[in-house]
Amino acid sequence: MSYPERLPSAAEDSARIRNERAGQRLITAFVLSGLFFMLLPGTFLGVWNLIGISQAHAATALPQSWLQAHGQAQLFGWVGSFIIGIGFYSLTRMRSGRTFPARAGWAVWALWTCGITLRWLAGVTGWKWRMLLPSAAMLELAAFLLFYASVRHHRPQPQAQPGPKPEPKPEPWMRLIIASTIAFLVTLAINCILLVRLALTGDSPALPHVLDQQLVTLAVWGILVPTIWGFNARWLPVFAGLEKPDSRQLFATYLLSVAGIVASFLNRLPVAGALLLFAALLSIRALHVWDRSIHPPKLLNVHRSFPLFIRIAYGWLLLSSLLALPAAAFDRTGGLWGASRHALTVGFVAGMVFAIGQRVLPAFCGMRVLWSVRLMFWSLALLSGGCLLRVASEPLAYAHLWPFAWKILPVSAVMELTAVSLFAVNLGVTLCRPPAHLRRETNLVSLGGAA
Ligand code: HEM
Repeated sequence: MSYPERLPSAAEDSARIRNERAGQRLITAFVLSGLFFMLLPGTFLGVWNLIGISQAHAATALPQSWLQAHGQAQLFGWVGSFIIGIGFYSLTRMRSGRTFPARAGWAVWALWTCGITLRWLAGVTGWKWRMLLPSAAMLELAAFLLFYASVRHHRPQPQAQPGPKPEPKPEPWMRLIIASTIAFLVTLAINCILLVRLALTGDSPALPHVLDQQLVTLAVWGILVPTIWGFNARWLPVFAGLEKPDSRQLFATYLLSVAGIVASFLNRLPVAGALLLFAALLSIRALHVWDRSIHPPKLLNVHRSFPLFIRIAYGWLLLSSLLALPAAAFDRTGGLWGASRHALTVGFVAGMVFAIGQRVLPAFCGMRVLWSVRLMFWSLALLSGGCLLRVASEPLAYAHLWPFAWKILPVSAVMELTAVSLFAVNLGVTLCRPPAHLRRETNLVSLGGAA
């Protein structure tokens, strides 16, 4: 360890605080709009869809554009907004010597939020969709390009040392985040091309089924899953006390997942399934998720079940990959595919965002403390319970193997809706309360007054 060569001046200190506050305000805006997209356009529409499908006893009973609008709101509106918000916030920590790009940040937020909203409205209402869908995709792409440019300009500065300055080599977790950021850009570009083509030649606001599923695979396995692996590699050794990740295995995991995506674009679904299954297995090994913790987990201000839910989330990742194998071989009604996708998006992605998000976001959004650790537990428990009911009953219901399974599906939807609402309330109230240090000061003042 070495000491800094000089202490920061007062001017540098106040610039750092200004940067930090600007970053906190921006990430709070992204988190709040992400929560909104998750709750109403995402989950509420998902529940509505599932109840409609269960009443009609057929997955084809609803317009495809409603299903796609739900998926877009969850993947890009919710998780995408969280990723961009965290990306901007992390710029304030990079000490790149530049001021925080607040203007660009707010422009990105406005473009992104408008794009997501228009995409959802066009899919659900069908109003002027030939104009709205491509405009929405262009707004999303423009927002991400601006975000990408801001991130690239803020590379960390090497430590001041005599002699030539070596380029710092990114750590493995950082490489995963960089790769998934590039995949995000590629996905939005493909999405834009597909929606422009749909507007010119299509006859409804829904993408053709196969193309849509390939786009969903790219978004989930190309962006969401590697982002989670990257942040897990960074944080789990600290938060859950796990052994440091194995960089080589992590790299191999990523290559397997890319190969899986390529195979799914080539319509080689059994090969894609096998590759993604190996990727899931290797990620569990590389990150030591199911090994014993080697340090005590850091559980201050979170529920003590936090490490357990992290491990459960990887169980969902594995189950999703296992279900994809029979789905690729013989699913004709979409039930196994739906169960596999749900295990991945709700069990793994949402489970991980609920667990890690409630751990880090209060601190990122202005040194706050999570409002309720009990709500954190219930949001995670209900999410897992609802996901279990859904994954178990969807293949049986959709294939008409067990009629009672149609009655379980709406129950699973309501359980997940409750889980999502608890998560949103817990984070929403946390962000509306003053930061922990200000509350302590207020308490001290009132105690002083009382004395
Ligand atoms: C209350 C929770 C949820 C419910 C009730 C729900 C319901 C549904 C339904 C009914 C479908 C149609 C296909 C099928 O039959 O499986 C679907 C598809 C989908 N869901 Fe969900 N979902 C929920 C949560 C989520 C979450 C949290 C995510 C992502 C983070 C997500 C992402 C998707 C995606 C990507 C699709 C595919 C859309 C497409 O075909 O383009 N869902 N969901």
